[in-house]
Amino acid sequence: MLTSFLNLSYLLGALTFVIGLRRLSSPDTARRGNGLAALGMGIAIIATMVYPFTDAPNNYLWIVVGMLLGGAIGWWSAQKVQMTAMPQMVSIFNGLGGACAVVLAMLELLSFYAGERSLDTGALFIVLLALLIGAVSFTGSLLAFGKLQGLVKDKHVYLPGHQWINIFFLIATIGLVTFLLVQGSSIGSIGAIVLMILTLVYGFSFVAPIGGADMPVVISLLNSFTGLSAAAAGLIYGNQIMLVGGILVGASGTILTVLMCQAMNRSLLNVLIGGFGGGGGAPSKGAVGDQVAKEVTRNDAAIQLFYSNSVMFVPGYGLAVAQAQKAIKELDDLLSANGVEVRYAIHPVAGRMPGHMNVLLAEADVPYAQLLDLDEANDLFANTDIVVVVGANDVVNPAALDDPGSPIYGMPVLQVWEAKNVIVLKRSMSTGYAGIQNQLFFHDKNRMLFGDAKKSLQALIGEVKSL
Ligand code: TAP
Repeated sequence: MLTSFLNLSYLLGALTFVIGLRRLSSPDTARRGNGLAALGMGIAIIATMVYPFTDAPNNYLWIVVGMLLGGAIGWWSAQKVQMTAMPQMVSIFNGLGGACAVVLAMLELLSFYAGERSLDTGALFIVLLALLIGAVSFTGSLLAFGKLQGLVKDKHVYLPGHQWINIFFLIATIGLVTFLLVQGSSIGSIGAIVLMILTLVYGFSFVAPIGGADMPVVISLLNSFTGLSAAAAGLIYGNQIMLVGGILVGASGTILTVLMCQAMNRSLLNVLIGGFGGGGGAPSKGAVGDQVAKEVTRNDAAIQLFYSNSVMFVPGYGLAVAQAQKAIKELDDLLSANGVEVRYAIHPVAGRMPGHMNVLLAEADVPYAQLLDLDEANDLFANTDIVVVVGANDVVNPAALDDPGSPIYGMPVLQVWEAKNVIVLKRSMSTGYAGIQNQLFFHDKNRMLFGDAKKSLQALIGEVKSL
């Protein structure tokens, strides 16, 4: 009876995970999808607590105190976190998932080596795998958190020839796991402790050479690792929901990692080796070398926008830095009230995390129907009167199409220069994430409006109101 109840609850939990995940694919349904998956997890936890797995007494007091404490910390952090700090939070939570896998695997290994539990070679392999993946994910995520939070600078953790250090760790880890498998229980607990220390250091070293701005890709990859370690733990305990949940996290993390790499036109290896972008650029206004970018005044820009038929905003990382999402919406409302058709072109890797622009614009209540994806926007630029680029750079760089020597050559970009006019809002001629100049700024159709994006948009709002 109890077993049927448990299986039914796990099935229900697994179903809610799948449906919840499906709903995350659209901003309209994402919130409900998240709630549904959380409900499924709640059902799975309660079912597991009711079912007596072992002869050992269930220590409900510890479990409930842990859940209340963890739940309270999770709730508090989710309330407090800024949208732009979301990758850090995902990273630290993900790291804790990895730490759980380490603790579980170590408990299993220590009792195996003490002769209290038997493990055949297959089971031992799974436990060692859970330890390895969990440890790499734990320390890797902690370092990713430190980098994104600005607590750790890339140059402080990157050593010359770091890739060779990582190859050494990889070989040493595989060697030690093989040795432990061959030796069985005769080796004693020292082997497990050495493997734990080695893999914890490896996780840190794995993330060390990767540039700070590539952290979202790495976090997504580590997330998939944690999913795999949870799936391995599910196999150890014969727990279906852990297995299904782990596989879902592992698969979705892998897909997201691949999609991000494709949208940047970079291989995963290129991301992991690091050293991409980060160039300082030319912080002066207007001129770079012999080339001079033409400027527009706030008044002229406002007149052009007010009397146009169609405007397309292209938000980028600078929108997030300036926190200009509410100002862009206010300008949108003023223009729309004057009969201008306003839309937003969203590049899949604009900003620094997946869905970065969608999240910011949703925060400012921009209707989802106004957002166009890359292909839709590219089809419409030729019929658009004015494109306003707000703090975007790489995602509107024509070098991606016409400069084979450029590091972003081949990356799909928003072809804003196809529109009748372009206005770029940014503070200077500085480069973006890829560290390269952008010929768009010198294009005949383009005019620069220098300044912080929020301040420029507020100035445009003021000008439009006075027309
Ligand atoms: P970027 O190319 O990074 O350019 C952002 C621009 O914003 C900069 O040139 C900067 O110029 C400007 N800016 C910064 N603060 C500003 C402010 N307060 N007001 C106005 N402008 C400001 O951004 P993008 O076009 O969004 O491209 C994203 C890049 O990140 C791509 O190369 C992508 O591959 C990479 N990336 C994305 C992700 C994800 S998942 N989104 C993950 C990893 C890497 P000024 O300093 O002159 O103002």
